[in-house]
Amino acid sequence: MQSFVYQCPTEMVFGKDAELKTAEEIKKYGGSRVLILYGGGSAERSGLIDRIGSVLQRGGLAFKKMGGVHPNPRLSFAREACACAQAFSADFVLAVGGGSVIDTAKAVAIGLAHPGKDIWDFWTRKEPVTGAYPVGVVLTIPAAGSESSDSAVLTDEESKRKRGLNTDFNRPRFAVLNPELTYTLPRFQLSCGITDMLMHTLDRYFTIDRNNQLTDELAEAVMRVIIRNGRVAHCDQTNYDAMSELMWCGSISHNNLTGLGNEKDFSVHQLGHELSAMFDVAHGASLSAVWDSWANYVMPSAPERFARYAEKVWGVSGGDTAEKAKSGIMLTVRFFRSLDMPTCFSELRGVGIQPDDVLHKLASNCMYDGARTVGTFCKLDIPAAYRIYQNAN
Ligand code: NZQ
Ligand code: ZN
Repeated sequence: MQSFVYQCPTEMVFGKDAELKTAEEIKKYGGSRVLILYGGGSAERSGLIDRIGSVLQRGGLAFKKMGGVHPNPRLSFAREACACAQAFSADFVLAVGGGSVIDTAKAVAIGLAHPGKDIWDFWTRKEPVTGAYPVGVVLTIPAAGSESSDSAVLTDEESKRKRGLNTDFNRPRFAVLNPELTYTLPRFQLSCGITDMLMHTLDRYFTIDRNNQLTDELAEAVMRVIIRNGRVAHCDQTNYDAMSELMWCGSISHNNLTGLGNEKDFSVHQLGHELSAMFDVAHGASLSAVWDSWANYVMPSAPERFARYAEKVWGVSGGDTAEKAKSGIMLTVRFFRSLDMPTCFSELRGVGIQPDDVLHKLASNCMYDGARTVGTFCKLDIPAAYRIYQNAN
């Protein structure tokens, strides 16, 4: 087990009507003037924004609402939201939505703590993050895990670069998790969310570290629960118990618990981010579209790890190591298909089969034009990424 420092300070407020506690949570963390951020309209249509507004009003909090966060959230909008928060003298940012809204809220919170600085400079590492205003979350989609993660991902739509920023300043103070708020999700978004939360543990599970018993077995349990309840929720989206399990798994899967003491890999995320940056595809779909190709490319470097995954997560018992490893990959791909998720480019809405020069460009962008490699389980460089994109094409 590698050395680690672990903190997961986000307070989780789980259950039916949990959003009614939002005002008291905000006050607990010192907020009095709140910028409420939300997305393209689902939270308005469901009445959630009005409900939150009433709760804050009853709690004596001043607030300003700002909708319009786009999935794969954009830098230009985050800059506007930051200016809006400054003009309102906000001291607290409340995200009502999913990963895109939460990540925008995190950007605003960092911007508020560094007046006069351009927020993109933090994402490009030109400026160090030295603080952030407090962020709270009312979660509406179990997926990205941003409600408990130290990460925030923005896209600079001009340069078509999608970049993540990891810092403990990104941890929300609290997250309200009411599974009933997910009932209005489009089925495709739910499938994207299930894929993403599974991938947050997969991208940690495929690691060079071995014999890390608690972390491995926690990861395997989280993956089994996601798969079992993902199947139920895909057929019955208003199943409270299944949605509860998924909502909790989504948070656990990305708060680093399922990777403690292991070297993280996260290559599938990096490969997927380039697809989203170039084609604006949904995050979960970008991951399932490359996973099969990635797994087949890296599996020969550690077939025994894939065999263990097949045994513990999918219950595969027959065959030798190589056969088990292949079965685990095949069953994962079959699971994505059962959720109607793409498993290659031709199935990926808005992408399709791409010419060779685009595959080279994706590979080069992913490696910052050769300035980095990605992954630790199997280090990927430009030729490796090109081969993975080519096999996914
Ligand atoms: O915008 P609205 O109208 O609200 O619709 C959203 C959006 O179209 C809809 N939606 C959300 N809750 C709903 C709902 N529709 C109806 N009813 C509800 N209850 O779902 C769509 C997707 O929303 P989004 O916030 O984009 O989803 P998700 O949570 O999957 O977030 C994806 C973003 O998070 C980033 C991704 O890269 C992507 O930009 N990630 C953030 C991470 C982090 N900060 O730790 C880690 C992840 O790996 C990921 O990279
Ligand atoms: Zn993700």
